[in-house]
Amino acid sequence: MKSKGLSLLLLVFGSLLNIEQCSSEKILVLSFISTKSHKLTYMPLVEELGKRGHDVTVLSPILSPKPMKNVRDIMTIDGVNLMDKFIKEQNFDLFKMKEENKQMNPFLMFGWFEGVCRDTYDLPQVQAILNESFDLILMQPMFNDCALGLVYRLKAPLVLFSPVSIANFLAEKVGVYFPPSFIPNVMLGLPAEMNFFQRFQNFGMEVMIRATLYFLYEPKVEEIYREKLGNDIPSASEILGNASLILSNGHFSLHSPKPLMPDIVDVGGLHSAPAEPLPKDLEDFIKKGKDGFILFSMGSAIKGDMMPEAKRKMILSVFSKLKQQVLWKWESETMPDLPKNVKLSKWLPQQDLLGHKDIKMFITHCGGGSTEESIYHGVPLVGFPMLGDQLLNAELAKKHGFIVDLDWNDATEEQLMDAIQEILNNPKYRNNVQKLSTLFKDRPTHPKDLAVYWVEYVLRHKGATHLRSAGRKLNYWQYHSYDVILAYITIITVLLYVIYAILRSLTRLLCRLVRNKKDPKKQKTN
Ligand SMILES: *[C@@H]1O[C@H](CO)[C@@H](O)[C@H](O)[C@H]1NC(C)=O
Ligand SMILES: *[C@@H]1O[C@H](CO)[C@@H](O)[C@H](O)[C@H]1NC(C)=O
Repeated sequence: MKSKGLSLLLLVFGSLLNIEQCSSEKILVLSFISTKSHKLTYMPLVEELGKRGHDVTVLSPILSPKPMKNVRDIMTIDGVNLMDKFIKEQNFDLFKMKEENKQMNPFLMFGWFEGVCRDTYDLPQVQAILNESFDLILMQPMFNDCALGLVYRLKAPLVLFSPVSIANFLAEKVGVYFPPSFIPNVMLGLPAEMNFFQRFQNFGMEVMIRATLYFLYEPKVEEIYREKLGNDIPSASEILGNASLILSNGHFSLHSPKPLMPDIVDVGGLHSAPAEPLPKDLEDFIKKGKDGFILFSMGSAIKGDMMPEAKRKMILSVFSKLKQQVLWKWESETMPDLPKNVKLSKWLPQQDLLGHKDIKMFITHCGGGSTEESIYHGVPLVGFPMLGDQLLNAELAKKHGFIVDLDWNDATEEQLMDAIQEILNNPKYRNNVQKLSTLFKDRPTHPKDLAVYWVEYVLRHKGATHLRSAGRKLNYWQYHSYDVILAYITIITVLLYVIYAILRSLTRLLCRLVRNKKDPKKQKTN
């Protein structure tokens, strides 16, 4: 009896508390195209929003690995299958591409996105979303502009989540132009302190990207969503420019500082968390050695079974000569010639391993998530960057001095062994990354809490339009005052010309007067 009354009291009290804490709102998390690793970066935020009582719907091509409280997962076109199919169709063997020095052709990729976008709009579950209403949309904008038609139709405040540190062309949609004089474009890998030639290059790159987006990419995207949802939908730039907030997965301790407005919030490190205890089999395997262990993973997109046989043998041979235990993420659990100190696993709790006290180094492809996690946990790297942003992450690690990077194509057995020994024996790499880790973690709030705070802030203030600077309404020429500078130059030029003209006619007049005065005299003396 008594306990019943108590629980009733608790229930009433609890629900009162709940109402006070935050009212539950409907949030849509949206992406049509996503890689597993991109989704991984923002899922902790989604999980936390669900825990805090919001009603969250995730519409994306990748299902979450585990069910979460208050989170409804809706699958679009299977992203993992799609990626595999794409890789097969286009013969995008990532190891081979690296060996042949090929980069992903953005135009080829784009043609592919187009098809995925059209098909996604036709799905009944996506059509059904159009009939619901939401209080906020959280969207991952990378390669997802096509979903902007849906965003516009739902008429809810938009928060963007950039899975990498915010790109210049995204920031400028909300009225923040990063000066190309000291913010290098991510594609070039230039230092922040650039000489004239580097600034010249950087500026040209920025212009080229703008031109591609403006003339090729955006018109195509707009054509698709207008075809599916109606001709009244504004341009992609306008819808992006209406975003209430951008969460950027970056931090000034990693990349050099950028001028941000209050509506762009750095939440880099959002998915990093202290290590949890390991499953027993892994812990036992690590304990078997006395010299710690090494983690080796090439990420989720690069499939181990595509690795050329000679490379696999070379790596295995190096590992077999080490005193350390080695954990290798691989698609199957066995290999015929596996040495005793090496364990293969399809899935590894990467963060828990990186945070383990016995880890010596991480041999990695330098993906964004992996690099960030090793910074958070302070683990030095041996890097095999393959393509895209992996090269930049390796560059970042080099700048901060905690990587020995190798070229996948040319790396020999000796080089790999030397790299591993260098990290093991030279403490500078570990010291550097631990110093960086301290800087990265020194913040008033954990980035996840910061992200939750700002999402709820936008909810509380119905889009928080007061965060927007007046810069959003200006075009490029107005923003930089080029129109005004041109006006000043014109006025000054005209003024100078007028003064010049007046002076010229004055001197002519004077000359004539002087000549006229002199002339009579001259005639006399003659
Ligand atoms: C959405 O609503 C419209 C009109 O209310 C209805 O005709 C349509 O069948 C609904 N679509 C879905 C997928 O529920
Ligand atoms: C901007 O967002 C508001 C909701 O916050 C929406 O009602 C409006 O239609 C949006 N406008 C554009 C151009 O996207």
